[in-house]
Amino acid sequence: MSGALRLGIVGIGGIGSAHFNCVGSGKINGMTLAAVCDIKPERLDYCKGVYPDVPRFDDVDKMISSGLIDALLIAVPHPLHAKIAIKALSAGLHVLTEKTEDITVSAAKRLNEAAEASGRVFGIMFNQRTNPIYRRCREIVRSGEIGELKRSVWIITNWYRTQYYYDSGEWRATWSGEGGGVLLNQAPHNLDLWQWICGMPSEITAFCDVGKWHDIEVEDDVTIFARYPGGATGTFITSTGELPGTNRLEITGSRGSVVVEQGRLIEKLLKTDEPTIRRESKESWPSVAPEIKVYAPKDSGAAHAGILQNFANAILYGEELLAPGAEGINELSISNAAYLSSWTGKSVKIPFDCGEFDRLLESRRSASAPKEGGSPQTHGDYSERWQVRF
Ligand SMILES: NC(=O)c1ccc[n+]([C@@H]2O[C@H](COP(=O)([O-])OP(=O)(O)OC[C@H]3O[C@@H](n4cnc5c(N)ncnc54)[C@H](O)[C@@H]3O)[C@@H](O)[C@H]2O)c1
Repeated sequence: MSGALRLGIVGIGGIGSAHFNCVGSGKINGMTLAAVCDIKPERLDYCKGVYPDVPRFDDVDKMISSGLIDALLIAVPHPLHAKIAIKALSAGLHVLTEKTEDITVSAAKRLNEAAEASGRVFGIMFNQRTNPIYRRCREIVRSGEIGELKRSVWIITNWYRTQYYYDSGEWRATWSGEGGGVLLNQAPHNLDLWQWICGMPSEITAFCDVGKWHDIEVEDDVTIFARYPGGATGTFITSTGELPGTNRLEITGSRGSVVVEQGRLIEKLLKTDEPTIRRESKESWPSVAPEIKVYAPKDSGAAHAGILQNFANAILYGEELLAPGAEGINELSISNAAYLSSWTGKSVKIPFDCGEFDRLLESRRSASAPKEGGSPQTHGDYSERWQVRF
C-alpha cells in the first residue's frame, strides 16, 4: 500500500482512549489516526476536544464503509468483537482486535474463518507478548532447555479490582454485557502467555467462583487444573479480590525449572536430567546443585504501542505478527473449558462441545439483569501496571 496506514478506532473508552492518544500523537510509524467511533456522545466530545479534525462516527458500519480507513482497531466490550471484526474484514479492512477475540470459541471460529477468507491482516492486542521476560521464558521452554514439561503453575492474583471498578460500566461483570468475569477480562493476557509458553492443555477441571469478593453475577476467583497431552500437569489461579496479589509463574521440566516473578526470571539447569538421576543414582536423595541463571530485563517491553507498531509493519512491510488474531482462540478455549467444567462439575477435554457451552452460556445471558449507569474512563498516557507510555 502507498502512504500511511489510516486507522479507525471503535470504542473510545478506557483502553480505546489510550490507543487514540498513542496513534493520534504520531507514536506509531506509518500509521495515522483517520477516524473514531463511539455510541456515547460524551466520548466523541472527548475526541473532538483532543483532535478536532479527526472524523467522528456514532455508528461503526458508517465508519467501515466511509472509505476513510484502511484498518480498524476494535476496543468495545468483548461480546461485540467478532461481529464488528467480520464486518470490517468483509469490507476489505485490516483488523486489530482488543482481547479477548470474543466470548465463545464458536464466535472465534467464525472470525478466524472470515479473516482467512479475507486475506487481510488480523491481529489481537496481546500486549504482554512484547514483554522480554515472557519472550525469554517461552524460548527456554520451547527450545527444550529445561527438558520435557512436567508441571506449570501460574498464580496471577494481582488483578485486584474494587466494586467501584465493576460499577464503572453497565456492561462490566454481567453475563449479558461482558459474558464472564476475570477469565474474560483480566486473565486472557496470562492464559494466552500460558499456552504460548507451555502449549495447549488437553483437559481442564476448574472452580469458577461467582461473586465471591464483589457484588457481581460473574466469577472473580478461579482455580484451573490442567493436563497436557504429554502427561504434564498445570495449575492456573486468578482472582480480582486479593491484596497484595501475586504474579508468579513456575515451570518445571525434566532438566530444570524456570520461575518468573517480580521482574526476574530465574532458570535452574541440571547437568544430568532428573529421570537419569532417578534411575542411575546410588544415593537415596542426592543433593544436586543446578546452574542458576538470572535474567532481569530493564523494562517490560513496548506493550500496546509495540503491538500497534507490529500491526502497521505487518500491513506495510509484511512483518510477521507478534500476536496473530487467529491465536486468540487458544486462550478462549481454556477459559470456555474452565466455565464448562465449573458449570457441569466435570473435567472437560479440549476441543469440547461448543454447542453445549453456547447453550449454557446463553441461559446465563438471557437471565442476566441489565445494569444501569457507569461511564468509561479516559486513560492517561502512562500505565503504572505495564510501566509504559502509550
Ligand atoms: N489490552 C489491554 O491491556 C486492555 C485493557 C483494557 C481493556 N481491554 C479490552 O478492551 C475492550 C474495551 O474495554 P474498556 O475497559 O476500554 O471498556 P470501556 O467501557 O471503558 O470502553 C468501551 C467503549 O466502547 C464503546 N462502545 C460500546 N459499544 C459500542 C458500539 N457498538 N459501537 C461503538 N462504540 C461502542 C463504549 O461507549 C465505551 O466508550 C474490552 O474487550 C477489554 O477486554 C484491553
